[in-house]
Amino acid sequence: MSADDRILRVLVLQGPNLNLLGTREPGIYGRQTMIEIHEELLRRATELGIDISFFQSNHEGQLIDWIQEHEYDAAIVNAAGLTHTSVALRDALLAVRLPFIEVHLSDPSKREPFRRVNFLADIALESFVGLGARGYALALESIERRWRAGTLPAPPEAGRG
Ligand code: DQA
Repeated sequence: MSADDRILRVLVLQGPNLNLLGTREPGIYGRQTMIEIHEELLRRATELGIDISFFQSNHEGQLIDWIQEHEYDAAIVNAAGLTHTSVALRDALLAVRLPFIEVHLSDPSKREPFRRVNFLADIALESFVGLGARGYALALESIERRWRAGTLPAPPEAGRG
C-alpha cells in the first residue's frame, strides 16, 4: 500500500472478442475463459489487498466512456484488435492520465504484419505479451510493486513518437 494507506484501485480493461476466450482460436489464446482469468485475478488481488474491477466491451466507444467516467490508480489493458487501430483509445488513456500495463495473451509481433502496428505500447508502463493468462497476474503484481514503491506515474504526455 502507498504511504497514504489508500487502497490501490486497478481496472482490467478487455477489448473486443475477449469475451469469447475459451472457445476463440484456442490454439492461439488457450482454453481458459475470460471469467476464469478474472476469477484468478480477483483471488490474487484479494491476497494483495487491491480493489480490482473488470470491464469488457466489443465497442470502442464503451471502453472510452468507461475510462472517462471511472477513477482508478492504474489499469491492465488488453485492447485486443483495437491495439492495432485505435488512436481514440490511446487518446483517452492519455487524456485521463491513467497509468497502464499492456497485456496480450499471444505475441502480436510474431503474427500477421498488421498486428505489429501498436497504438498503445509506447505509452504503456510495461507490456506482457505471449505469456497467456499469466501476463495479467504479472501485470497486477508489477502495478502493486510500483504502488508500494510510490513510483506509479501518470502516463507520458501525448505527442511523442
Ligand atoms: C490479443 C492480440 C490481438 O492482436 C488480437 O486482435 C486479440 C487478442 C491477445 O491477447 O493476444 O484480440 O490482444
